[in-house]
Amino acid sequence: MKVYQSIAAAVLASAMIFPTAVPAFAAQDQRSQAPGIQKQDTLRWVAPQDLKIGTAVAGGGHHETQGYPAPFPNDKEYLRHLAAEFDSVSPENQLKWEFVHPARDAYRFAEMDAIVQFAQENKQVVRGHTLFWHSQNPAWLEQGNFSKDELRAILKEHIQTVVGRYAGKIQQWDVANEIFDDSGKLRTTDNIWIRELGPEIIGDAFRWAHEADPQAKLFFNDYNVESLNAKSDAYLDLIPKLQAQGVPVDGFAVQGHLSTQYGFPADLQANLQRFDDLGLETAITEIDVRMRVPAGTQPTAAQLAEQASYYQRALQACVNVDECNSFTIWGFTDKYSWVPVFFANEGEATVMWNDFTRKPAYYALQDTLEQASPGRGNR
Ligand code: XIL
Repeated sequence: MKVYQSIAAAVLASAMIFPTAVPAFAAQDQRSQAPGIQKQDTLRWVAPQDLKIGTAVAGGGHHETQGYPAPFPNDKEYLRHLAAEFDSVSPENQLKWEFVHPARDAYRFAEMDAIVQFAQENKQVVRGHTLFWHSQNPAWLEQGNFSKDELRAILKEHIQTVVGRYAGKIQQWDVANEIFDDSGKLRTTDNIWIRELGPEIIGDAFRWAHEADPQAKLFFNDYNVESLNAKSDAYLDLIPKLQAQGVPVDGFAVQGHLSTQYGFPADLQANLQRFDDLGLETAITEIDVRMRVPAGTQPTAAQLAEQASYYQRALQACVNVDECNSFTIWGFTDKYSWVPVFFANEGEATVMWNDFTRKPAYYALQDTLEQASPGRGNR
């Protein structure tokens, strides 16, 4: 089996030092750099000990069509904020099948190895995303006309290889992503595994992941499950059934891709709580809050305040639920957000502007974390 060698180690070496403050005169002299980041003035500093504050690490996926080098590990200013602000990181695309497993007998681990190394250098945990999904699969898999036995062997080998490689280094895995449609029906058509191998394969994916890393916490992850609705009901029904069969499921994760045009999901906390009541861990894994911004215009102060309120309420919901222990934003700067690429006329969905300056949403998160854990945090 061919395994690509790490290419990024040298580039990263210089960026892995926890950032220290840059003197004011230096910041003025180098306007292309972010101002110095005081470690006491970050999200991770004020986060409660039992709540990881995370971000996606930009690379792969839509970034490859944007005409800039992969943000990780090339954008030094980006790396400084990534190290300073967060104590959890999630590969945005670097562990998806199309990226990490580009041919049947070839894996591409260089980028993920570099992310894991960066995380260790900066005392961050890592969320693995994802092993079992209907999207971003390589053509060799989707169009391979494999037999059932072959497909099962391919999935097992992938999970053993990828989870095994990072055993002890990935804290939580989104084992299965988006297995239900919005009506709460299993994706029996577009998910190749469920279509070809039946729903029982879902439990096998969790079993194989657990065998490869018994310490890792194993999650279901989905969008449009913020609220009490048919889709979240489907998970509430499925997970205890799997657990009764001995399937190692530890948690239920809500992605949290919100848009101000749909209103805030006011029942988010109640929804997380009913999974907590089952003894599950919960997490918010991909939050962003997009808004309507017609091309060439800027968001208004009122829009920014509304966005900040969405982030604040989502974080507060997680803080209020005992075992909601991970809150991850899907990118921290608009410079690299997937939103304008995927949602027409919507954007500005993250907590920092293109130049890494902070929006009201950033301060809403910082204040909420501080209040959740006054005088304690991760200091
Ligand atoms: C997105 C990435 O942000 C993009 O870079 C990529 O082009 C497409 O996928 N739900 C998920 C994430 O679970 O993996 C998706 O990420 C966003 C929706």
